[in-house]
Amino acid sequence: MRILHISAECYPVAKVGGLADVVGALPKYLNNSGQQCSVIMPFYDVRFTQNHQFETIYEDTVFVAADNFHFKILKLADLSKDFELFLVDIPQLLYKDYVYSHDDAQRFTAFQIAVLQWIQTHQHKPDVIHCHDHHTGLVPFMMQYCYRFENLKNIPSVLTIHNAQYQGWFSHDRIAMIPDFDKQHVGLLDWDGSINPLATAIKCAWKVNTVSPSYMVELQQKANGLEALLSHESAKCLGILNGIDTTVWNPTTDAFIKKQYSSSSHISGKKVNKKWLCDTYGLDFNKPLFVFIGRLVYEKGSDLFPQVFKEILQENDVSILLLGSGDSDTENKLIALREKFKGHFNAYIGYDEELSHLIYAGADFLLMPSRVEPCGLNQMYSLTYGTIPIVRSIGGLKDTIVDVDNDGYGFVHEDTSVGQIKNAMQRAAAFYDNTLKFKKIRTRIMKIDHSWDNSAQQYISLYNTLKN
Ligand code: ADP
Ligand code: GLC
Repeated sequence: MRILHISAECYPVAKVGGLADVVGALPKYLNNSGQQCSVIMPFYDVRFTQNHQFETIYEDTVFVAADNFHFKILKLADLSKDFELFLVDIPQLLYKDYVYSHDDAQRFTAFQIAVLQWIQTHQHKPDVIHCHDHHTGLVPFMMQYCYRFENLKNIPSVLTIHNAQYQGWFSHDRIAMIPDFDKQHVGLLDWDGSINPLATAIKCAWKVNTVSPSYMVELQQKANGLEALLSHESAKCLGILNGIDTTVWNPTTDAFIKKQYSSSSHISGKKVNKKWLCDTYGLDFNKPLFVFIGRLVYEKGSDLFPQVFKEILQENDVSILLLGSGDSDTENKLIALREKFKGHFNAYIGYDEELSHLIYAGADFLLMPSRVEPCGLNQMYSLTYGTIPIVRSIGGLKDTIVDVDNDGYGFVHEDTSVGQIKNAMQRAAAFYDNTLKFKKIRTRIMKIDHSWDNSAQQYISLYNTLKN
């Protein structure tokens, strides 16, 4: 089947979070299973696009209300063996910020219209259009109801919800950005008085999935205003757990880490990475090393870290290292803590792909006290690198991590609170002292298979239900 994935992010071209990892991996695994997937995304002015050659395969003008923009569809010239990659180049709109900006409505509406204009004239029409998150949420609506895209009406569409917190809202007075459509269906664009691209996609896509089964159940109860809609549409909804790309996330082959290692006798290689991390960030190698990697936002529970870390570092002998950026209040508190607990706590405020690999490899425990976690990839990377996850039981974390007390391999807490995070860290620190048990779990978690193979098959089954 020919499947076109439409997304705002794709690793390694442009990545803000897990969406990029998924869109950079799932098509690859689908293709290995005999599908013909390609990816189309915006062309941002970033390192990847600056360092690669592209071939222009289509040029046109996109009209977004009163504005019009010349655009090109570019194809990666040194074609990746994994999947075909296409990019929509609209310099005036897409170069000004990194991936997202404070007002994305016009940028992503133009991107989506351009994609459809191209598909329309393209000789190889896809059998399935696969949209990811709200940035591509108007596509299923436009294919069905915009007069100019009438010939795309019968192409089945899938929406994957990676994160329902963000819905792409814009006000009705900007409705003219959407090409002329059958006004009988204007209600499909609205949710609660705004144009809501995520809600529109939930209504119009042929199938809708979340990135873990538990997250779908949770969204039907609480979805930032969309719970009633998701319950109403439940017949076409399901949850498919994300996987990980073991060609990128694999301690036996990872070129970013200081020493490669495996779960067998070579696990001692993990120590070399811990030593490097502790030396580089001024931490004590002999203490259990707790880490966090991620966006410093409310959903991740990271606002509680300053208090949790302060209390833990006063009471326990542990090392903590954090890599992340986001909320400035949290960033400032963490910077202050870095001064206060020199030698025990360090934080790299920013984004660093290479360092993230080194941290997964060198750490003992990974923290994920998320309030919301649609799937979460960090905990699965962490398992693969023999780093024990400490997670809040929510969304994909609930579907992937079992507590050591239930014959599992992680530390699970029920709520995102200072007390519970601290308690889980203290349980983990005590566990670290039991060297035999600790080593046994560490080798066990490295053998768990979270690769995309299984989940890719579930997507294929989903696509098969759409065959006309
Ligand atoms: P989300 O998409 O909600 O941010 P995920 O767990 O699905 O959460 O994926 C996060 C991805 O982004 C992982 O690949 C993680 O390693 C990466 N990541 C997050 N923050 C940083 C950072 N500051 N530096 C490097 N990688 C990061
Ligand atoms: C989102 C979610 C995260 C998920 C990722 C990839 O960013 O917050 O939980 O793993 O998408 O699906």
